[in-house]
Amino acid sequence: MTVYGSFPGARPRRLRTTPAMRRMVAETRVHPADLILPAFVREGISEPVAISAMPGVRQHTLETLRKAAVEAVEAGVAGIMLFGVPADEKKDGAGTAGTDPDGILQVALREVRAEVGDDLVIMSDLCLDEYTDHGHCGVLDADGRVDNDATLERYAEMAQVQADAGAHVVGPSGMMDGQVGVIRDALDSIGREDVSVLAYTAKYSSAFYGPFREAVGSSLRGDRKTYQQDPANLRESMRELALDLHEGADMVMVKPAGPYLDVLAKVAEAVDVPVAAYQISGEYAMIEAAAERGWIDRDKAIMESLTGIKRAGANMILTYWATEVARWIGRQGYDVVCD
Ligand code: PBG
Repeated sequence: MTVYGSFPGARPRRLRTTPAMRRMVAETRVHPADLILPAFVREGISEPVAISAMPGVRQHTLETLRKAAVEAVEAGVAGIMLFGVPADEKKDGAGTAGTDPDGILQVALREVRAEVGDDLVIMSDLCLDEYTDHGHCGVLDADGRVDNDATLERYAEMAQVQADAGAHVVGPSGMMDGQVGVIRDALDSIGREDVSVLAYTAKYSSAFYGPFREAVGSSLRGDRKTYQQDPANLRESMRELALDLHEGADMVMVKPAGPYLDVLAKVAEAVDVPVAAYQISGEYAMIEAAAERGWIDRDKAIMESLTGIKRAGANMILTYWATEVARWIGRQGYDVVCD
């Protein structure tokens, strides 16, 4: 036998020999309690509406949303993140429907809270883009630019209305400067010190949000590059992180997840608060589309994508597959699902 020098001197393959061995030495496991289900609820529909770029995901009616929340609880999912889709005629320049106590998101928060109580962590997207007729995440100034500080006033009011409606956690996703601090103050000022802020700390201006825009019926023209981050930047995320923590963020998030695992790893290493990652609509759509064509094994690709996000440092993962994956794990155990 030809031996090249003294190699191999070590044999890592010994720890990969059997499923039982691989299971024993696995460093990362995804658990249902890591998962948060993002869900869309649309005003004025009597049946759920399919989202063509996100096969398997629907715009819920209030009734099917309540059912989805119950199913999430039964599967062991940790939380639900709600997005409201108002009727088109309710959209205006200021995103008024976002602060109307009878706006779709607030109604949904009340109903879901009444349905599942504290069995699920109920989170609300705190952003204006679903409610504005121009589709931006904030209000515009006279020149049509997103007005940071005027937007903060809207966010403060949104936080209070969402807390009143039953959110355990508010998730500001608009990337306005100072949003976490203003929201914290607004909540405290009405005695809602109990409501947490999940800060979208590093939110990049991403092409992978495409299917989401269909999901919320976004009317955005142009882009969000004056407020969301440039994909080229990493150091900038550390600055956003320092600011969010200083302003009182209880948890921080990196979004998207898959293309930004380096950001996630660096954030996770730097903080002593829980870290979330959002596996967004485009990440979902890519796997579903490739699987539909028979190009990849859908279930394995889903588990691998989630395992990678957890391995990079996420404590919580927002994923549209949350309930499905939680069921797989519950039935078979994580390792069987993966092997
Ligand atoms: C903004 C918001 C977006 C997403 C979550 N919150 C869209 C955007 O910034 O354009 C995207 C989520 C996804 O793509 O799955 N309210």
